[in-house]
Amino acid sequence: MYVCNCNGIREREVHAAIAAGARRPADIFKSKACSPKCAKCVCDMRGIITQARETLRYAAE
Ligand code: FES
Repeated sequence: MYVCNCNGIREREVHAAIAAGARRPADIFKSKACSPKCAKCVCDMRGIITQARETLRYAAE
């Protein structure tokens, strides 16, 4: 599934960027060597980042 249609960034690429250390949407764009265009995907990216952080926090407990 595409998270960012403008840049063709898929959900699994977002997860890979987070696993590699991305902490904000700008980090994800940087990992794909692109920049936001319409920015409609930024809220979705923030949601995925938050969800991944919560998953890691629960795993650490
Ligand atoms: S959908 Fe990501 S910049 Fe437009």
